[in-house]
Amino acid sequence: MAYQIVALVGSLRKESFSLKIANALARLAPPSLKLDVTTLHGISFFNQDLEANPPADWVAFREKLQKSHGVLFVTPEYNRGIPGVLKNAIDVGSRPYGKSSFLEKPTGIISNSPGPLGGVNAAKSLQNILPGISGTIMGQPETYLNNVGDAFNEKGELVKEALQKVLEQYLTAFAAFVQKQNA
Ligand code: FNR
Repeated sequence: MAYQIVALVGSLRKESFSLKIANALARLAPPSLKLDVTTLHGISFFNQDLEANPPADWVAFREKLQKSHGVLFVTPEYNRGIPGVLKNAIDVGSRPYGKSSFLEKPTGIISNSPGPLGGVNAAKSLQNILPGISGTIMGQPETYLNNVGDAFNEKGELVKEALQKVLEQYLTAFAAFVQKQNA
């Protein structure tokens, strides 16, 4: 049986490096993991006024998380934090209070940037936000992918061997972590 992993992409951009990295991860994943690459286009703004009668897109997003065996965040950094669209999705998934859909889901974080710092602040920001509402976050290997601007060809295919190796190492560790957490 393959563990179902929701891979949340922190960028809405069509040519997003985060999306391409998530797609590469889905392709490279071992047979024990099935990554469902999930963009956040359809998730409406969180508004506490709507909690009693939540919009269908919130319900669908929460159900998707609940049915999964783990969550993997693949995100860029915006202004030293996470993009607003990702924070909004986390807020939606975290409610109702005490019933977060992220709870008990083994969690992975991969940040990236075309710049030199690999989006490390976005990853750290997630490490601040998640612990009260998520499952255990995998600690090692810490993965902040820098200089991703030359990693893909015009078809969106991964062409940077060194990056592929890092992704494969991450997936090996994450597969073992997910298995252990779901045991
Ligand atoms: C950025 N970018 C950026 N990069 C970085 O390394 N640290 C940062 O703080 C920021 N801040 C930032 C803010 C905003 C509003 C934008 C639009 C961009 C650059 C960012 O890493 C780059 O645009 C990526 O390509 C965005 O990720 P996707 O869309 O390729 O996944």
